[in-house]
Amino acid sequence: MTKKLFVKTYGCQMNVYDSERMAEIMGEQGFRATETPEDADMILLNTCHIREKAAEKVYSELGRYRNLKAQNPKLVIGVAGCVAQAEGEEILRRQSLVDIVVGPQSYHRLPELTRQVESGKKAVDTDFPWESKFAELPQRQALKKDPAAFLTVQEGCDKFCSFCVVPYTRGAEASRPVPEVVREAQTLVEHGVRDITLLGQNVNTYHGKNHDGKDWSLAKLIWELSKINGLERIRFTTSHPIDMTDDLIAAHGECEKLMPYLHLPVQAGSDQVLKRMGRKHTVNAYRKIIEKLRRARPDIALSGDFIVGFPEETDADFEATLELVREIQYSHAYSFKYSPRPGTPAATRKQVPEAIKTERLQRLQELLTEQQQDAQQAMVGEVVTVLMERTGRKPKQMVGKSEYRHTVHVENCTMQIGDMAEIKILAATANSLAGAIAA
Ligand code: 5AD
Ligand code: SF4
Repeated sequence: MTKKLFVKTYGCQMNVYDSERMAEIMGEQGFRATETPEDADMILLNTCHIREKAAEKVYSELGRYRNLKAQNPKLVIGVAGCVAQAEGEEILRRQSLVDIVVGPQSYHRLPELTRQVESGKKAVDTDFPWESKFAELPQRQALKKDPAAFLTVQEGCDKFCSFCVVPYTRGAEASRPVPEVVREAQTLVEHGVRDITLLGQNVNTYHGKNHDGKDWSLAKLIWELSKINGLERIRFTTSHPIDMTDDLIAAHGECEKLMPYLHLPVQAGSDQVLKRMGRKHTVNAYRKIIEKLRRARPDIALSGDFIVGFPEETDADFEATLELVREIQYSHAYSFKYSPRPGTPAATRKQVPEAIKTERLQRLQELLTEQQQDAQQAMVGEVVTVLMERTGRKPKQMVGKSEYRHTVHVENCTMQIGDMAEIKILAATANSLAGAIAA
């Protein structure tokens, strides 16, 4: 009899990828995906520890499963991801409903852990095992049948920015070998994928071994993947400014399949703050990279991450962040209040009062929203190429992504999911564009 698995994903795109891989491995154990926890035999929460709010969501979600577990004592509840890694056994103490705690580097062991639970024991695995989970996982199956997919090529981080939990939850920086990545990309394309986003916490430090025994850079990997017939679009995320090498910048100008979009977090616009964050780059160094990128690819759409209210951030520091944003002009960006994370150096520094953080975030977000709207508005009248990713709410409406990663709604569209078409943009709203097939 097939059993049902409900997976809920929090946090970053890599968690989305990991959730798919967990569904695939449990698929081999006879589990099929379900969209609702109510009819599940197993529930997996794939969690995020990046900010306090993200981590707390997990416990409120778990609380909702009390009745389900009372009705079905055989229901297996697992916590995976970065909260699992950071808190380990503590999760079992805080929430006795939980049966499995499994970290991001050991989820290939889920079948064993599930058997352990079936034999009446709780299972905790937060190892950073010597074996690579990728080598142990079944071949990629692309169960969701989306034309756009994620592919993890690099994981972990050795940079230890003073605010960040990632080096502790994801472990040391490591790259998957080139042939393994190419094989996975080919499998995805065989399943109908046309757009691949290469993932890594520091994806541009990628240095995977190839058959030639050499370490290949991300740029070389992108060029290699661009040879795959049927793969039309390549993106990568997330990058660190200090690893934006010249070959990668040049690829943005030369490799047709590499999309004109880059998420390159700067975090703050003040050198003092960057220094305290341990970012290893200055504002000017970041500016120079952006200049080079725009020289290589003038229409590149830029995105970033910002933290406001980092310990000891002054008004002048914050103004410098606003100034940098005005100068760069982002097409999209994420911004957050600094959240002290247990075990990270910045958590013990003198904190900025909450009210100031709130005010700064509001001001920054107003500016970023304005820029995003300007960038959307500037697309009206332009022709973009759209990969159709899903059907829209209205009849004959399709929704897809442009090369710049704008969401585009296309009316009166007879195209299928996975088709690509030239679309003339007719209107822009705050979060999406609307257009029609270009004549
Ligand atoms: N508080 C607030 N934001 C954070 N980020 C990472 N750690 C923290 C923290 N402690 C943000 C950074 C990063 C993004 C993924 O999350 O901007 O780029
Ligand atoms: Fe969250 Fe970072 Fe872990 Fe992704 S890697 S789930 S963003 S803590």
